[in-house]
Amino acid sequence: MTGSPFAPIALAPPDPILGLTEAFHADPNPNKVNLGVGVYQDENGRVPVLKVVQKAEELWKACEDSKSYLPIDGVAAYNRQIQTLLLGSDSPVVAEGRAVTVQALGGTGALKIGADFLKRFFPGAGMYISSPSWENHRALFEAAGFQVHSYPYYDERTHSVDFERMVEMLRKLPSHSIVLLHGSCHNPTGVDLSRAQWDTLIDLFRSSNLIPFIDFAYQGFGEGLEEDAYGVRAFANAGIPCLIANSFSKTFSLYRERVGGLTILTSHAEESKRVLSQVKRVIRTNYSSPPSHGAQIVAMVLSDPQLRAGWEEELREMRERIHAMRSLFVQTLQEAGVEQDFGFIARQSGMFSYSGLSVEAVRHLRAEHSLYIVESGRICVAAMNRRNIGAICQAIASVLKSRNPVPAA
Ligand code: LMR
Repeated sequence: MTGSPFAPIALAPPDPILGLTEAFHADPNPNKVNLGVGVYQDENGRVPVLKVVQKAEELWKACEDSKSYLPIDGVAAYNRQIQTLLLGSDSPVVAEGRAVTVQALGGTGALKIGADFLKRFFPGAGMYISSPSWENHRALFEAAGFQVHSYPYYDERTHSVDFERMVEMLRKLPSHSIVLLHGSCHNPTGVDLSRAQWDTLIDLFRSSNLIPFIDFAYQGFGEGLEEDAYGVRAFANAGIPCLIANSFSKTFSLYRERVGGLTILTSHAEESKRVLSQVKRVIRTNYSSPPSHGAQIVAMVLSDPQLRAGWEEELREMRERIHAMRSLFVQTLQEAGVEQDFGFIARQSGMFSYSGLSVEAVRHLRAEHSLYIVESGRICVAAMNRRNIGAICQAIASVLKSRNPVPAA
């Protein structure tokens, strides 16, 4: 008998974010709290199915008349709605056919399609992600065959963007280097570029001929739908060819339906056709065509004025609840006796708080309090509520008091 061909395969390490969810589910402690994965929970600790989603699902059920394949690039109405949401209802880029959008399997799927497309046409290009960045960025682009490097982004002393060092490095990159930017609600730091910084980047990208790839998974979770789109629209209006990965996982609470999109901005309509044809090849050779349900729901909500207004209202509620939890988190930490100043958490944006907690502290929180946090110190504020925040802050206070593991500023 010959040995198994799989015998030499080593065990892969758990995923730094989704692996935590697996460990959380296996934890028998009834008081466990998962602040790892970026999933919004309401005041009752539930991942909501939005009211507008329930309504649209009823409407869709009544009118869906086929389960045949979707086109390779997905639901056309959905792709059109994405363009308007990203670029604005009066965007000349859309009107002139300088944007192509394909439906994707969530934001991650959009990044992967974009990565495979870029690898095919820029095989020697370097890929640059912020330091730090979403845990999966490096792995995803490496899996697509890129050499992935980091550019300076977060200054942990000031809890702000280290823009000077960021620009200094980006200026040195060879033409056609690919630079991943976060459109809003930077994951993991929650520290975003200012409008002036976006404007500076536009000049830099143009003069250095860099390829921007904007990860835009949280439109509406920062300041608002329009406000959060500033950077994306600034690149579009400057006519810089660009890739944008967007997602409705968080903003529609449709995580498991995998609804996202990849939009590529080109320099003219004819170029758009060629680009689209190649992106479709990437999709066809990966998974052929996307699933229908989530995209139909999003398209229906975005195109119906009443449903759309309902969605914007529910989105506003989620955004405001996260803002409220940030302030409450800072206040409750103080009340629990934490002496370090965590006031910066209230100024961060989006689902996450980049706490500055050390790996050691994070491991103790998990082992001793069943409090799950990503090892970078990233905490999902959107999973806090008035019932669990006291226990969360007590746990952090006790770990900090016993070991003082926050690195000195
Ligand atoms: C996160 O950053 O936690 C989310 O985007 C979920 C994921 O896929 O990692």
